[in-house]
Amino acid sequence: MSNKLSLFPPNTTITTEGQLTLNGHAAVELARQFGTPLYVYDVATIRQQIRAYRQGLARYAGSSLLTYASKAFLCTALVRLMTDAGVGLDVASAGEIFIAERGGADPTAMHLHGNNKSALDLREALRAGVGRIVVDNADELASLTKMAAEHGQPVKIWLRITPDVAVETVHEYTVTGTADSKFGFPIEAADSVARELLSQNSTIELTGLHVHLGSHFHDAGPVAQALERLLDLAAGWRHEFGWPFSELCAGGGWGVRYHPDDPPMPVEPFVAGVTAAVERGCRLRNLSLPQLILEPGRSLVGQAGVALYTVGGRKVMPGGRTYVSIDGGLADNPRPALYRANYTAVLANRAGEPETETVAIAGPYCETGDILIQAVDLPAAQPGDILAIPVAGAYQLAMSSNYNAALKPAVVFGEENGVKLIQRRETFEDLIRRDV
Ligand code: LLP
Repeated sequence: MSNKLSLFPPNTTITTEGQLTLNGHAAVELARQFGTPLYVYDVATIRQQIRAYRQGLARYAGSSLLTYASKAFLCTALVRLMTDAGVGLDVASAGEIFIAERGGADPTAMHLHGNNKSALDLREALRAGVGRIVVDNADELASLTKMAAEHGQPVKIWLRITPDVAVETVHEYTVTGTADSKFGFPIEAADSVARELLSQNSTIELTGLHVHLGSHFHDAGPVAQALERLLDLAAGWRHEFGWPFSELCAGGGWGVRYHPDDPPMPVEPFVAGVTAAVERGCRLRNLSLPQLILEPGRSLVGQAGVALYTVGGRKVMPGGRTYVSIDGGLADNPRPALYRANYTAVLANRAGEPETETVAIAGPYCETGDILIQAVDLPAAQPGDILAIPVAGAYQLAMSSNYNAALKPAVVFGEENGVKLIQRRETFEDLIRRDV
């Protein structure tokens, strides 16, 4: 149990009555007040992760900018939190730009990603004044060049480089930097596109380079290796065209602990690995230090989130397996089905009791794959118990669906002085809102 507790936000405790409390708020009380499934974000944990990144970046000898990969979880309240903390935003669609704007984000601290940005994505980025467009391919560069001319203003871009460097992630679907990835320019293609761009007068201004190797890795070595390749390109263009290499985005992707068996993953080794690689690489190539941008998602918000569910019942199968069924699953968290993500759980109202059985946690949706956890040790769960799953903050709600006409859960922000509803639970009316 104490092992599991270390996965929750650091201010999580268990009372002498065995109640799980999140920053002083009893989980069962939150479940009663807001209903389940409920996603509770601990604001202090998000702030702590921002601080950890900042402290790491402060050791970089050049300037730096921390941005948040908003695809991990986005809503206006989170945009406000990030913006108030001076964190910029990585957005990946016109929809994310819309939410960011509504949340009051500073567009100049935003950059737009996407391997097939639509005309709408690009137009909205130009209209909103998004600071940088991360160009993925030559066709996109051609459309953007046309649009920028019509727009009548210079547009600042980075090129996304695919360095052909692998990272070890939990699932192959979250690797993005290898040669056959659908994302970005291979080195040679980037080189020829940049040479063409730099040898002419264009409304497009190439200010920097971008790389993102994948998501949920925990070895910074490959990032350092990839950065070497980017710095080689930058040095070549500097030498030939006097290119002022002013910005370098090293992506995101640092992992988090989901399960007691996972090793600790503090962000410091990632940030230190990146800053050291950039400093050393620039020194060796006689380049002045670019502004260093990071764009983590999961490691900023993952641990802050706790998902609360109500147990509906239990079923002991002839083969010996016991299912404990809860009121959420695949619809609010498709990660186990998509990536075989490995979670753990506790009974929030009986967290002090011995864990006497190993059970599978099943969701209510019409899919055999709707199993949130294949095997977890718990006290014998009964209908009405509240199940808490830690590390629910990233890519769960962001990838949630209305499968079986499930209503998307309510989301609350927990702080020491209270709990605030930041997204209401969907209603049945929401389910037919788009029907014409
Ligand atoms: N930058 C780019 C260009 C990205 O594509 C991503 C994530 C990030 C940064 C942030 O990566 P992070 O720090 O969150 O690892 N749905 C998957 C993860 C997909 C990641 C997509 N790109 C999951 O649930 O594991």
